[in-house]
Amino acid sequence: MRGPENPGIVIECGARPLGSGRTQRLFSWAQSPALLIRGGRVVDPSQGLDQTADLLVIDGRVAGIGTELAAPHGTAVFDARDLVVAPGLVDVHVHLRDPGFPEKETLETGAVAAATGGFTAICCMPNTEPPLDTPERVADVITRSRGLPVRVYPIGAISRGRQGLELADLGGMAEAGAIGFSDDGDSTRDSRVMRAALAWSARSGRPIMAHCEDRALAAGGVMHEGAVSRELGLPGIPAAAEEIILLRDLELARLTGGWLHVLHLTTARGRRLVRAAKLEGVRVTAEVMPHHLLLTDEWVAGRRRFVGEDRVFTGPCPDPHAKVNPPLRTEADARDLLAGLRDGTIDIIATDHAPHSERDKPDDLTRAAFGMIGLELALPLMLRLVARGELSLPELIDVLSTRPAALFGLPGGTLRPGSPADVVVFDPEATWQVERATLASRSCNTPLLGMELHGQAVLTMVDGKVVYVDTDAVAWRAGP
Ligand code: DOR
Repeated sequence: MRGPENPGIVIECGARPLGSGRTQRLFSWAQSPALLIRGGRVVDPSQGLDQTADLLVIDGRVAGIGTELAAPHGTAVFDARDLVVAPGLVDVHVHLRDPGFPEKETLETGAVAAATGGFTAICCMPNTEPPLDTPERVADVITRSRGLPVRVYPIGAISRGRQGLELADLGGMAEAGAIGFSDDGDSTRDSRVMRAALAWSARSGRPIMAHCEDRALAAGGVMHEGAVSRELGLPGIPAAAEEIILLRDLELARLTGGWLHVLHLTTARGRRLVRAAKLEGVRVTAEVMPHHLLLTDEWVAGRRRFVGEDRVFTGPCPDPHAKVNPPLRTEADARDLLAGLRDGTIDIIATDHAPHSERDKPDDLTRAAFGMIGLELALPLMLRLVARGELSLPELIDVLSTRPAALFGLPGGTLRPGSPADVVVFDPEATWQVERATLASRSCNTPLLGMELHGQAVLTMVDGKVVYVDTDAVAWRAGP
């Protein structure tokens, strides 16, 4: 059992315990200046490390990794046997719905969901109401994120009002703390605006994060256009809708020398376009979502089969929770994307955590909103690939933590002594059921609802402070 509403699960959020029950005991823990995480499998791609060892945290920083560390008197001990100890996960693509849609998520509930999922740093998209398209609005998110369980970094809009027609004040927003720029939810409509954004990126070195979708071609579509959409009689979104704008934006990156970060890549052809551009020296990076690696358009038809696995679970048909943009594509696309992740064409994993209320997800797919939550599901989904030997654990931590942190210049991604202690301890085998009650996010829109998953965070630490702990898992593990 987990989540802030469940007794026995405690999430420590600064001076405000969000859970109930044993907060007091953990309070002293969280305040402990020194913590020894003992005997876990320490995986840190930034140091090429994968070994059983202790991790010592003192005064918010990693003090050492080894087997005979000298811990100061009074150090709290956390028994991490059979658990993995890694740099905290980093997600550069999250929707926190704040300001504007508190019924879906807020900065606070989103940060708690992130900590619960093992994330220590997240970047939030500007498709809020009002959108994050001015320095003041970016600064407001930063101010209100202080004291939250995880680090929150806003992404500013590329265009004013996210209308795609006029360049927003990118320089002002960058000064206010925006870590990148995106009109995510839509492509930047006017190619001249996108060109100007990428030209600014070439000067500033900041990423332009592109949602690639030809509006007219995708209009009215609710799922991937292919055999399943035809079977269900539902309007489709062709792969070409994504690839046309991807090609445009790659060409604009080539023209300007700006840094194009491709959001949620989903097609095999798209992967080839990114690969070719990289080989030709275009400054492009790309991300893929766990749901596009492991789920397919069959899930919209209620045929829930993970890519590469045989077992089929039955879900609702059509399933509004499987409606996401870009859509779940075919098994061939998903397999190709995994190959792209493994060969480095795709740089990182991000979640596109897109919370929606139940009202926004009616059974009628044509009225349902696009999006699914991801912060608490990324780790168990990706661990399926590790369990099947398709990705090693160090490779997984690399694309979920070390690389996104390094790429976007965010804290975390490493357990090097001296660095801020942003750490996740997770149980790769723990079995749990995806239910509203087991999710910390304010929304529970995911096609995984009702399913059993393996792998979950047991402890998340940001800056040396315990921000999430699954007390059921650690009751018998906590040291004196
Ligand atoms: O499915 C999606 N949902 N894709 C997006 O690009 C936007 C997101 C949202 O904000 O709900």
